[in-house]
Amino acid sequence: MIQQAAKDFAETELLPGVIERDNEQRFPAEQIKKLGELGMMGMMVDPKWGGSGMDTVSYVLAMEEISKIDASASVVMSVNNSLVCWGLEKHGTEEQKQKYLKPLASGQVHGGFCLSEPEAGSDATSQKTTAVDMGDHYILNGTKNWITNGRTGSTFLVVAQTDVEKGHKGINCLIVTSDMEGFVVGTKEDKLGIRGSDTHSLMFQDVKVPKENRIGEDGFGFKFAMKVLSGGRIGIAAQALGIASGAYERSLQYAKQRKAFGTEIMNHQIIQFKLADMATRIEASRLFCLKAAYLKDTGGDFLEAACMAKLFASETAMWVATEAVQIHGGYGFVKEYHVERMMRDAKITQIYEGTSEVQRIVIARGILRD
Ligand code: CAA
Repeated sequence: MIQQAAKDFAETELLPGVIERDNEQRFPAEQIKKLGELGMMGMMVDPKWGGSGMDTVSYVLAMEEISKIDASASVVMSVNNSLVCWGLEKHGTEEQKQKYLKPLASGQVHGGFCLSEPEAGSDATSQKTTAVDMGDHYILNGTKNWITNGRTGSTFLVVAQTDVEKGHKGINCLIVTSDMEGFVVGTKEDKLGIRGSDTHSLMFQDVKVPKENRIGEDGFGFKFAMKVLSGGRIGIAAQALGIASGAYERSLQYAKQRKAFGTEIMNHQIIQFKLADMATRIEASRLFCLKAAYLKDTGGDFLEAACMAKLFASETAMWVATEAVQIHGGYGFVKEYHVERMMRDAKITQIYEGTSEVQRIVIARGILRD
């Protein structure tokens, strides 16, 4: 039912205008509001905090369907669900949940996750943003890069260094809202893909953040970010899965109609082999995503499964979308047929929430540790 609801929503609400939004870099504001009303912005959050009380498996199913049509909308959904809401529900205080989680999970507002900096991407412990301890509050200064929902979001989880001497153990994560004095939204990024999503740098200029907005104990910020990202990576894996299956479905449909050399191109073995490889890699990606989600839902150690799912699904999305353009030939190279957008959108899944190389680092460390 959840899968069907997400599919219906994607086809009726997201498909119309998806090409124009990509062209104009227009945020799908109305659609995100409706996704919130459908309960898809806080899918895994307990209903007492405004969420839908579903599990990660349901979230993966919904993410795949939304991403088949519009990956710009699904990144908004993913960041809000698995980074912001899940992080707050798992590690926030009752007061933080009441004040910040409820509006986020019920879709009244949406949020962002601020870890990356101009000089701290994969090397996430090299935080230059500072949160100086002033007793009952922190003074936050610094710049965060590539922030999904940077302009449209209202609640942000911001990672910053409090004590440099303690390295990653001196990092905190603070809840910051866009109405705080000194919160400045930088220029919008002009991106290759997911162009409908809203990506900005954010500047914090002497922002006074109350101590009750810190997540967890002093120094928990880096571990918090890593824990949250392990769950987030399941969301991006499911996004990649959706982009791949969307591109594949369009290719299959095209191959059944398009004629060349006297027959539908599906009758040429070269096309059949492409479709077979696409279908196989997509099914493997789906199983990876569902395994990671199941482990997370049943309290298992899902870290490496999430990294494997993200690594495999994002590499698959890039490969499948490129092959989809190839199957479409010249038509694949123009916007009307959607697959060129999917190819551009696929690329970011190999980069954000940990590049493919970072996933390999985490997987390899797990293998060598066991
Ligand atoms: N859970 C709990 N703790 C963890 C953890 C996890 N998953 N991963 C690491 N830690 C802990 C480690 O145990 C260690 O603590 P101790 O010293 O107490 O043992 C501490 O965190 C530091 O870990 P590492 O020594 O492994 O740190 P590292 O410097 O070697 O970096 C890394 C590891 C995996 C490369 C990490 O920096 C990383 O994941 N980088 C990528 C960052 C990233 O994914 N950014 C995405 C930005 S968000 C985004 O894209 C959102 C969006 O808008 C779409």
